[in-house]
Amino acid sequence: MERLQKVIAQAGVSSRRKAEELIAQGRVTVNGKVIKELGTKVSSNDKVEVNGIPLEREQPVYYLLYKPTGVISSVSDDKGRKVVTDFFPLLKERIYPIGRLDYDTSGVLLLTNDGDFANTLMHPKHEVDKVYIAKVKGMPTREQLRLLATGVKLEDGITAPAKTKLISSDKKKNTSIIQIIIHEGRNRQVRRMFDAIGCPVIKLKREQYGFITLHGLTPGESRELSPHEVKQLRAQSQAKTRK
Ligand code: URA
Repeated sequence: MERLQKVIAQAGVSSRRKAEELIAQGRVTVNGKVIKELGTKVSSNDKVEVNGIPLEREQPVYYLLYKPTGVISSVSDDKGRKVVTDFFPLLKERIYPIGRLDYDTSGVLLLTNDGDFANTLMHPKHEVDKVYIAKVKGMPTREQLRLLATGVKLEDGITAPAKTKLISSDKKKNTSIIQIIIHEGRNRQVRRMFDAIGCPVIKLKREQYGFITLHGLTPGESRELSPHEVKQLRAQSQAKTRK
């Protein structure tokens, strides 16, 4: 048995808070009866409708994919390119990626059919740390790295403070490897941040999402997250919200 607002959010209809509003407004029925009480619990056999439309309820599933480069973070592509869900040909649940990695970026990508979980993790205020390794052009000075750490001005606003670490530099090739940790998830954010300091990204990999790493996986491989990992990810992001 699960609370009605959680079931609605999990099905991807809305956030939990919005689901509570839908219930209070009398727009939710359970087995044909309007339910306005927020605490109501429902089982998988109950027929839930929102605005007269039945909820598509599936068992929630959670996966980690080592996304290779050359793949779109989507469930379909109108140009026929490979998409991340192509790596799950036998799965009957309709999963989708939590956030995005660029076509040219590799690394940790989480996928689920749990809308509530996806919303929680993707919300910028939840501050899940993402660790990237970037190979960039040039050899950024301490001052340039400090700019990334304090926040750089992008067209969609100043970035939140990032943590950076210079891993190595190749003087001959004029390239550097830098670790950067951010918690926002704006479009092409890391690439734009390095563009802003004049060191464009050549190669980008997400090594970690929260505490989830690529350990044991090669590009294109995936594994199911354990129930404990799911719980911990949820707890970590919620703890950040309360801060
Ligand atoms: N930042 C980027 O620029 N690209 C990604 O894929 C992820 C973060």
